[in-house]
Amino acid sequence: MSNTIRVGFVGWRGMVGSVLLDRMTAENGFDGYEPLFFTTSQVGQRGPYLSGINVPPLKDAFNIDELKELDIIVSCQGGDYTNEVHPKLRAAGFKGFWIDAASALRMNDSCIIMLDPVNREIIDNGIKNGVRDFAGGNCTVSLMLMAFAGLFKHGLVEWISSMTYQAASGAGARNMIELAVQMAHLTNVTAKMRTNPAGVNALDVDKAMTAELQGTTIPRMNFGVPLAASLIPWIDSAVENGQTREEWKGTVEANKILNTKKNIPIDGICVRIGAMRSHSQALTIKMTKDAPLDEINDMIASAHEWIKIIPNDKESTINGLTPAAVSGTLTIPVGRIRKMNIGPEYLTAFTVGDQLLWGAAEPIRRMLKIALEHVS
Ligand code: HSE
Repeated sequence: MSNTIRVGFVGWRGMVGSVLLDRMTAENGFDGYEPLFFTTSQVGQRGPYLSGINVPPLKDAFNIDELKELDIIVSCQGGDYTNEVHPKLRAAGFKGFWIDAASALRMNDSCIIMLDPVNREIIDNGIKNGVRDFAGGNCTVSLMLMAFAGLFKHGLVEWISSMTYQAASGAGARNMIELAVQMAHLTNVTAKMRTNPAGVNALDVDKAMTAELQGTTIPRMNFGVPLAASLIPWIDSAVENGQTREEWKGTVEANKILNTKKNIPIDGICVRIGAMRSHSQALTIKMTKDAPLDEINDMIASAHEWIKIIPNDKESTINGLTPAAVSGTLTIPVGRIRKMNIGPEYLTAFTVGDQLLWGAAEPIRRMLKIALEHVS
């Protein structure tokens, strides 16, 4: 047996997996171990092209004996795969790290939700105490904690009401494409009248678009309704109390990530909007005390290196605090920070984050690095 560390990747071809591979390539993330690629359907075929690395043919992602030999497994394959393979693998004696993008294991006591810029200490203590299952958080929750980690750290948060503006990517790759196709439909029906911008009548454009939105031809197989030029104030399934599952996750996952002694309530309405891959959130924060605004800004800014405080003025906000500005970057802008008229303990703020980076792939890439330190 060689001492080479072996890391298996499952679900690397999907959207989160592809973003993960891109980030790993950019950060020399395949150095120091043998990467092996698994598949649920194409055993023996070629793996991904990685410059300078000889990637062997794809292995069977359901082969417990093969998986058992790995030191670390990184799965972006989805919850069904995790539910099927993870219990069998642990029962077969697999003692390695299981690092998962899916939600399947998240709320298990034996699993830590990884978001190391926010909960590195909890991750390190967990590893010391034998925890080997790590799951990425819900993207909205992770992005909110990335933005406001400083306030939580200083015990300044009594409760939060969050209203979200979530991008199509959170619903999946097919939904992103459907949004683009819906946009094309809407622009097509107005194309002729827009050839003469001077003579165009806004109400005619609206009429044509509304007819398309309310008609039957605009594709809606994935969202069920048009998202382009509209929005959908419902994400995921219903839970008992009138919340959606996406809204329910706010409190439970955030408190688990932070390992809070006293539960911090987080609730609001999660809304799908026509952004491609960056989620936005508007927060009302009830603070535990009337802290001065400059101290609040400092607390938020000093949490980690990716925070960017956006001054509360129009130019800064429209240029720096939008999905268009943030997508494809690791920056977590936080802006519109001000005390509310409701009272001095009520703070409002707005934040944006790339759902596929900090909301999905980046915590996984970083957790793999941490796990590698422990198996080397
Ligand atoms: N559930 C999220 C969404 C994405 O629908 O936007 C993944 O956390």
